[in-house]
Amino acid sequence: MVLDKVLWLFAFVTLVYCKAARQIEQDIQSVEAYIDSKKGDINQRYRLRYHIAAPVGWINDPNGFTYYKNEFHLFYQYYPYDSVWGPMHWGHVASRDLVHWKYLPTALVPEKEQCFSGSAVVDGDTMILMYTGHVNLDTEPWANETQYIAYSDDGITFHKYEGNPVISSAPNGSPDFRDPKAWKYGDHYYVVIGSKTDDKRGQVLLYRSTDMKNWEYLNVIAESKGDSYMYECPDLFELDGKFVLLMSPQGMEPQGDRYKNLHQTGYIIGSFSYDTFEFVPEVDFQEIDFGHDFYAAQTTEAYGARVLVAWFNMWEQPRPEAEDGWAGAMTLVRELRLVGDRLTMRPLDAMTLLRDEIEMVGILPPQQKLHLGKASELIVSGDLKEKIELQLEGSAGGEKAWLRWEPDTGKVVVDRGSGDIRQVEWSPSSTESWRIFLDVSSIELFCGEGEVVFSSRLFPEGEWIVTNTSPQILHATAYSLAWSVPL
Ligand code: FRU
Repeated sequence: MVLDKVLWLFAFVTLVYCKAARQIEQDIQSVEAYIDSKKGDINQRYRLRYHIAAPVGWINDPNGFTYYKNEFHLFYQYYPYDSVWGPMHWGHVASRDLVHWKYLPTALVPEKEQCFSGSAVVDGDTMILMYTGHVNLDTEPWANETQYIAYSDDGITFHKYEGNPVISSAPNGSPDFRDPKAWKYGDHYYVVIGSKTDDKRGQVLLYRSTDMKNWEYLNVIAESKGDSYMYECPDLFELDGKFVLLMSPQGMEPQGDRYKNLHQTGYIIGSFSYDTFEFVPEVDFQEIDFGHDFYAAQTTEAYGARVLVAWFNMWEQPRPEAEDGWAGAMTLVRELRLVGDRLTMRPLDAMTLLRDEIEMVGILPPQQKLHLGKASELIVSGDLKEKIELQLEGSAGGEKAWLRWEPDTGKVVVDRGSGDIRQVEWSPSSTESWRIFLDVSSIELFCGEGEVVFSSRLFPEGEWIVTNTSPQILHATAYSLAWSVPL
């Protein structure tokens, strides 16, 4: 009798689970059919050529950055049905070299939970995604956040675990409890999760598990002293003998040149012990990128190096591309190094694979214009004792920007006009040139060996024209770059 009941219950649970799985399969098929039917309608005017963007619709944070079965996988927060944020799915791309990307089917679709940001780990032949299940509520606190997992044996189709959620609340019950970044060390999985204290200061929580399903809470590894009300998207990794806690704090007030974006992404260098589970900060929080549009960065390991990618946008900013049927992109993947008290970010060596034609090598006298295509790389150097300035504009008008070196202040400036400036001091460690990546509606400026990097979106019309508006002759090399993300 009891056995009968157990069997019935088992059959019932299996049926419910199979029905849910079938529903998810159908949802994914309809998302893919929708994408196929709409992608031809995208207005291409600002469409990026070598940066990941959604085929149609909205994207934000990078998620689940990992290497699995000979390919790098990158997922992203995705709402396919409009070019504004909506119920979160996980979009999916993969690459062999982190430069050429292909689209894969949408990996996660929302059910009762939206699929907020998270990460991926690989266990043998299985990829396991860990993400935040976000459920809106009708009454305060308006939402509930818990942690979910999903499995894949092929890196394409993902099955949500039937025992979700695997972590059902923060130790203090905070409804803001999201963005799990998991990794494996020794016999355990570890995860850091963003949250806040009862009095609304950002914090990062650490857990561990042997199977990704049962989690033990270990410690608070970072807590704001009051300058941030929430730490989003934490990531903890070892680099060159130190530990780096990367995160995206919300609510930091501007201080001079610093923290001028709505929210920040930066890092704390310190030490971490797998015995005491304590992270001891050694260098205070610093921004990692100094441009206008950079948020929610995530890292993974690639051939022994630590590489990073971020959302190439910022919350609550105007996005001209949204009129065209898409919104949001990823930055170029960068390699991180620890140099003294700072992280440097350098373009991957594989970026040179995109060089198509040399557009110029030689000197660029003052006021000389350089006509480039829509996607270019430019390497520029001059005498740092004097001012350097490049004006960037479109051959058919639209937005303009200026990249400047100011010897008096020792600062590099990215100026989008009308006072929309980001700037920071730069002391080159060896290389004194700038490497500038221009895509159809974006600028990434890597100074020297990546001591200082700016990522900013810009919306010129037509092709790029770069003018040497400095009082000195500059040396320049320019390449046109090939497409590496399909339309
Ligand atoms: C960061 C973030 C995350 C959240 C996701 C939702 O940009 O707010 O904290 O998981 O976006 O899309």
